[in-house]
Amino acid sequence: MYTVGIDVGGTKIATAVVDADGQIIESADVLTKAEQGPEAVLDRIVNTVEAVLSSSGVSSVIGVGIGAPGPLNPREGMVYSPPNLPGWDRIPLQAEMQRRLHLPTFLDNDANAAALAELRFGAGSGYRDMVYLTISTGIGGGVILDGKIRQGASGCAAEVGHHIIALDGPLCRCGNRGCLEVLASGTAIARMAEERLGAQLNASAVARLAAQGDSGARAILDDVYRYLGVGLVNVVNMFDPSVIVIGGGVAQIGEPLFEALQQSIDQNHFRSNAFSRVRVLPAQLGTRAGVIGAALLPLVQSIS
Ligand code: BGC
Ligand code: NA
Ligand code: ZN
Repeated sequence: MYTVGIDVGGTKIATAVVDADGQIIESADVLTKAEQGPEAVLDRIVNTVEAVLSSSGVSSVIGVGIGAPGPLNPREGMVYSPPNLPGWDRIPLQAEMQRRLHLPTFLDNDANAAALAELRFGAGSGYRDMVYLTISTGIGGGVILDGKIRQGASGCAAEVGHHIIALDGPLCRCGNRGCLEVLASGTAIARMAEERLGAQLNASAVARLAAQGDSGARAILDDVYRYLGVGLVNVVNMFDPSVIVIGGGVAQIGEPLFEALQQSIDQNHFRSNAFSRVRVLPAQLGTRAGVIGAALLPLVQSIS
């Protein structure tokens, strides 16, 4: 049994044919170029999916799942105006893709989808209470409690990236100030490099410099770890997960990031002395969690 997963990111779109064990049979990535508008982007996705399907050799798939940045409502199949898809507003993404692909199609938040994949096939397996965080162009979250992904009234239950950390902080693309995303995403790291070091560097270049001992780069990452640490403590205090799993490009920093975040939770978690330690773990499916999770949506949503 096979499904198609589509992970629509702010920078690129991943598509894959995936089997029931979460194994990718065939995949392809394309650049998002959201500024070209939804029509052009949807056409590009459809062409890519058709190419991936034909080169996979798989003759039939039971459905398509799409993960996309929020705010979006999975029940309506609607994408509202995601800060990371500029120019997109009220797009009936589920219906539009279903019409073009002629297959049952399901939509959820990209981080929710990735959370499902990590729960079933990755770092969250064996747990019933897990929060997943993706740190990439934006910051997203997926909250799984009692083994179920939580949607909330409008499907935005786990918009962790837009919880406010610094009251008078920098302006976020969502219109508020001081969101976790504007302080600690990959985009935020690049902005700080420009402001403080006067250099055009992406997050992985900043991490490389820091690893080589550059003090300016280290100071940027130390600030980012502090913001993320506070964000994680808030999340742990609110949802009481057993584990936090972190994916997305910025998680590739690895050890220094995970050490700092574990320390922040150990020190500042409200009930840290009373109960067992909440672990911070890297996503096992890495940057593939989103597309594998999207491919799970036809299985998960058709039974709920
Ligand atoms: C959105 C989230 C999304 C994240 C990563 C954020 O700006 O609000 O819904 O998961 O970006 O794409
Ligand atoms: Na979410
Ligand atoms: Zn925001």
